[in-house]
Amino acid sequence: MPKKQEDDKFYLGNKNLPRPDQEFEWTPKMVRDLKKCRQNILYFAENYFYIVNLDRGKEKIKLHACQKRTLRDLRDNRFVTLLASRQVGKTTMMTIYCLWIAIFQEDQRILIVANKEQTAINIFKRVRLAYESLPNFLKAGVVEYGKTAMTLANGSSVGISTTSSDAGRGDSCNVLILDELAFIDNHLVQDFWKSVFPIISSSKKSKIFIASTPNGTDNLFYELYSNAVKGVNNWKATRIDWHEIPGRDEKWKDDTIKALGSVEAFNQEFGNQFLQTGESAIDDELFDKLKLSAKDCDNLQNQLLGLKHLAELRFERLFSTFEDCVHKGEL
Ligand SMILES: Nc1ncnc2c1ncn2[C@@H]1O[C@H](COP(=O)(O)OP(=O)(O)OP(=O)(O)O)[C@@H](O)[C@H]1O
Ligand SMILES: [Mg+2]
Repeated sequence: MPKKQEDDKFYLGNKNLPRPDQEFEWTPKMVRDLKKCRQNILYFAENYFYIVNLDRGKEKIKLHACQKRTLRDLRDNRFVTLLASRQVGKTTMMTIYCLWIAIFQEDQRILIVANKEQTAINIFKRVRLAYESLPNFLKAGVVEYGKTAMTLANGSSVGISTTSSDAGRGDSCNVLILDELAFIDNHLVQDFWKSVFPIISSSKKSKIFIASTPNGTDNLFYELYSNAVKGVNNWKATRIDWHEIPGRDEKWKDDTIKALGSVEAFNQEFGNQFLQTGESAIDDELFDKLKLSAKDCDNLQNQLLGLKHLAELRFERLFSTFEDCVHKGEL
């Protein structure tokens, strides 16, 4: 086939971006795998989702048990709020979930929201990279493919937003993925949530996935998660603790505490602890230091008082000696 004709089968000539009308020579395995992937998010992830390992390079992901549990929760529940330690694969699971819905379900408008636009763009980059790494027969073809949004031939699309922009408002989004919600400014979240949540939740099939590390108690993430744990809202609460990641044992914990500088900092980043607002690890540390220096000040003050007293005594003695000498006519 001439090169031009061959290139026309792909979006911008990129062999990993098939156009909607691309045809395949289907083998029984391809048909079977397409069906399995559509039905089973875990099968899809472990057979077709790649991560980059620092030592071994690009390889298929082998999901940890806690990640499987979370992905099952996402499959089975519409509203999921995940409390998780740092570096447990929150963004990786968001990417898998987003891709799985976009490819295998029709007419889904997926919105990825993060605290900063650059963070949302980075997550979207991961979605694009994962999409491009899939074999073409699994993919719904590409209609549009940009830096902040992509649209597929099955009518589904993925886009990004921040809570301060207007995207996601109106009835245009039915799958919302929110990363690190506890770290988005409260006033921005409240406005966004008030306008977006009623619309999303009014649809019977809409889905929301929120994942965050804790950040105090005075925010929407804490409210959603703690109410879900108490069973007073219709959210599924789930959590991943640091020790659920293979290789993270007590020695790893000790090393990490040393690297971070304090147990409080570890609890904040890895301990899944909701410290009361105003009681953060940094405040505690600072407070301890202040207490220490106040103690030092007391000591110093006592020492100075002692020196003053000594100096006064010496001065008095010197002065009376001087007076004696004057009196005796020696000076
Ligand atoms: N099952 C897995 N096996 C091996 N590596 C994994 C697995 N899941 C995730 N990773 C790797 O772990 C690293 C952290 O993943 P990710 O960024 O998704 O975590 P995170 O919880 O979002 O981190 P952060 O708290 O920094 O936002 C990445 O390099 C990712 O490729
Ligand atoms: Mg992350």
